[in-house]
Amino acid sequence: TPTISDRKRDHLELCADQDVEARAKTNLLDAVELFHSSLPEVDVDAIDLSVEFLGRQLQAPLLITGMTGGAPEAERINRELALVAQEMGLAFGVGSQRAMARDRALLSTYQVRDVAPDICLLGNIGAVQVAAMSTDEVEDLVGSIGADALCVHLNPGQELIQPEGDRDFRGCIDAIARLVEELSVPVIAKETGCGLSPGTLNTLQKIGVGTVDTSGAGGTTWIGVEAMRAPADQQTLGELFWDWGVPTAASIVYARRRDLQVIGSGGLRTGYDAARAIALGADIAGMALPWLRACYHEGAEGARAFGAHCTSALRTTMALTGSATLDELRQAPRMIGPRLERWLAADTCR
Ligand code: FNR
Repeated sequence: TPTISDRKRDHLELCADQDVEARAKTNLLDAVELFHSSLPEVDVDAIDLSVEFLGRQLQAPLLITGMTGGAPEAERINRELALVAQEMGLAFGVGSQRAMARDRALLSTYQVRDVAPDICLLGNIGAVQVAAMSTDEVEDLVGSIGADALCVHLNPGQELIQPEGDRDFRGCIDAIARLVEELSVPVIAKETGCGLSPGTLNTLQKIGVGTVDTSGAGGTTWIGVEAMRAPADQQTLGELFWDWGVPTAASIVYARRRDLQVIGSGGLRTGYDAARAIALGADIAGMALPWLRACYHEGAEGARAFGAHCTSALRTTMALTGSATLDELRQAPRMIGPRLERWLAADTCR
């Protein structure tokens, strides 16, 4: 069986170069058209993108979503992306810290505070792992990298296709509730590409989770990535469920309706996508795959260029909708397409 480090390397290689995104489904941000303003009365260079998030000041409402750790390639990517986050004032998350929980020698592959002392830094661990750990053990994951909050990832879709994946998901709700009570930092409940549904959001809200990361369907599909690694029978299953999940745009609105703090993510590829996620009510916008691809092939320089393009596209969208602030962007006039309207109307279990 492959080690966790082998698996991390497989994941990075596949995501960097293969087609790992949704096929027939979109994240439905394409169903959000913001009205153009021909008379914006906005100075594009004076637009203030800064926002407070989990006790840190961001210079733009963008998160480099947690991806990696636990392998030598992962260390380079984490450090380069964290450095760019520091330079640009963005939030940054590490990938699952499960590998370092098992093997302390891997801790350095997650440590970025020396290059990124001021960023909003998010730790990461799976809900299934949390159910088998003491709060002290989880607290150590947070403390040893100096994280400001902990993402607990929810990924039953991925696990069911992953050859060595978990199959028993009982106890996760209680485990997250315990962490919310006992951990010294905020807990963020995070999907990994299948989106948070109304029912899941109701449960998270009931147990006191304050921040969620939608990671909706329509972007990187972890069911798809695992299908590529799986033996034939699981591969067929992975193909069948490739696009499974709640589209990002719907998940953002469901979470906003419940007054949760929202990281809108899942298939965002440009600053224009980030703007539409924020217009739907996200506090900040998260992206994973485009940052990985920029950094994997072109290092910190590639990531810097991608980040600069993102902020200028976000600013441009704001100027062209007459939005001088992020709050005005959230109020910007829009047309919502019929497919997204139907997802929004299906939110009946409030
Ligand atoms: C991820 N993602 C992820 N999520 C998580 O909570 N823990 C993890 O360890 C990882 N690992 C990981 C590796 C790589 C290479 C990628 C591309 C992604 C999921 C990620 O945070 C995000 O939720 C999804 O990828 C959806 O966003 P994008 O990629 O469509 O922008």
